[in-house]
Amino acid sequence: MAFAVVLVILVLGSVLFHFLSPWNMTPLASNWGSIDVTMLITLVITAVVFIAVNFFIAYAVIKFRHTPERKAEYEPENKKLEWWLTLGTSVGIIAMLAPGLIVYADFVNVPDDAHQIEVVGQQWSWSFRFPGQDGQLGKSAIEHISTDNSFGVDPLDEAGQDDRLLTSNTLILPVNRPVKLSLRSKDVLHNFYVPNFRVKMDSVPGQVSYQWFTPTRTGDFEILCAEYCGIGHFNMRGYIKVVEQQEYEQWLADLPTFAQSLMSEASEALSVKAKQGQEVAQKKGCMACHGFEESPAGPSWLGLYGANRTFKDSTELIADDDYLREAIVEPGATIVKGYAPIMPKLELSELEVDAVIAFIKERGNRDSDAGAQTMQKNPAEQSKSGAELAQSKGCTACHSVDGSRLVGPSWQGLYNSERSLASGETVLADDAYLKESLFKPNAKVVAGYPPVMPPSQLSSAQADALIEYIKTL
Ligand code: CUA
Repeated sequence: MAFAVVLVILVLGSVLFHFLSPWNMTPLASNWGSIDVTMLITLVITAVVFIAVNFFIAYAVIKFRHTPERKAEYEPENKKLEWWLTLGTSVGIIAMLAPGLIVYADFVNVPDDAHQIEVVGQQWSWSFRFPGQDGQLGKSAIEHISTDNSFGVDPLDEAGQDDRLLTSNTLILPVNRPVKLSLRSKDVLHNFYVPNFRVKMDSVPGQVSYQWFTPTRTGDFEILCAEYCGIGHFNMRGYIKVVEQQEYEQWLADLPTFAQSLMSEASEALSVKAKQGQEVAQKKGCMACHGFEESPAGPSWLGLYGANRTFKDSTELIADDDYLREAIVEPGATIVKGYAPIMPKLELSELEVDAVIAFIKERGNRDSDAGAQTMQKNPAEQSKSGAELAQSKGCTACHSVDGSRLVGPSWQGLYNSERSLASGETVLADDAYLKESLFKPNAKVVAGYPPVMPPSQLSSAQADALIEYIKTL
């Protein structure tokens, strides 16, 4: 008897809790009301079965309880009952599955008038790419990813030059217009989830997945990563701000294009000739192998001009104009020790070669030139954008700014402090140390902390801004 009462209380309590629960779904803000309907159908069917089964057990416990007069009956088969149960179960399962299949067919068939946006996930931030005037996203590939090209857009693809890039975590979308999000990941599995839109999809390294929806109301809606992707997973968030079409267009027009982003990041304070060289280097694909902060396949251009080069046969030479010209025109003639002889001969004019050399010289030696005009932005401005980066790039998931201990060392009082490393050495946390820690996090790991930080994908200018911010703490 007590058992039957407990069962009934359990069922009534569950039903009551469902209606009184403070945990509601977020308000629907997209066309996917049909996803809510399928959830409701499943909930109602399972609820009816749950209530019926438990009430039946309670009934059976009372009705067939033990009495000395009654004997149990042996009834191994009941054809009629089996038919009813089989039929009922089948109808219930079909009623739960069929609506889901219908909605899923809609979900994977993107309407023709949807505009396309690319979402790139990485530990632990989101960034976005929009097609330019041509309505096409340029090709992208992992080998093009560098600190100056965080999306890995193919620098040789015409279609990519006018793509607009957004590296902050707040995406703006026009209301009442279907949008297709193509999803990529740079490192591990992530999942792009917007609860208000009822959509989520894995972003998988090495492939492009997608989802589509039509925002149906203006407002701010939270983006979450719904796939455990490492220590900063909980902080991999963002916002989608839905606005009127006109406001969206104005906002979009202010985003830098891919071509501009390559120019502006690196080309502040470059001469006209060096800027031409930069364009040549991008168009001819040099930057696919050579870079300044990171250099994917060939020798780095950072500080190259005037540096000593050691070749395969152990001869040495200073990298001056003549050497660089030869290295560009006859790549096979001088192979630097430790590199494969894979650079192709390029069709470059005399002028283009000169321009590329000027670019390597000015851009590569800019940071090391004393008194160079690299610090054009004032520190207060830099520090402000550094603070924003710390948020949007997920740094603050692991580094506190108030001295409290999270996964990584706190940033409070970090600048110019003595750090004890896991290796037993002690270093001063100056600009150089902070920059190295950003791009090669595991080169100097502070004692007592795990070596879990992924290398940053910031540009050189962004890294400077972040360091400027850390200084203020
Ligand atoms: Cu990305 Cu979790």
